[in-house]
Amino acid sequence: MTVSKGLSSTVLHVSVDRKRCQGHARCAALAPELFELDEDGAARVLAEGAVPPHLLDKARLARRNCPEFAVHITDGECA
Ligand code: F3S
Repeated sequence: MTVSKGLSSTVLHVSVDRKRCQGHARCAALAPELFELDEDGAARVLAEGAVPPHLLDKARLARRNCPEFAVHITDGECA
């Protein structure tokens, strides 16, 4: 028997590994609610990286499409 923990209220976060980011800008194009480019053309997260549930698919899409594997999604408990 599986015991469910119930609905989680964990807020997921996106982050950008700035050492990896090469400014491909796919993240900002695919999820402008979550990413923007800084003056050097590197990505940075908006709203401290918090991902509202309705933007989780976009966060995953951005992660999949970053050719440098610079986009990460965490729940704050694991990296
Ligand atoms: Fe950088 Fe990847 Fe976005 S290289 S600008 S984090 S698509």
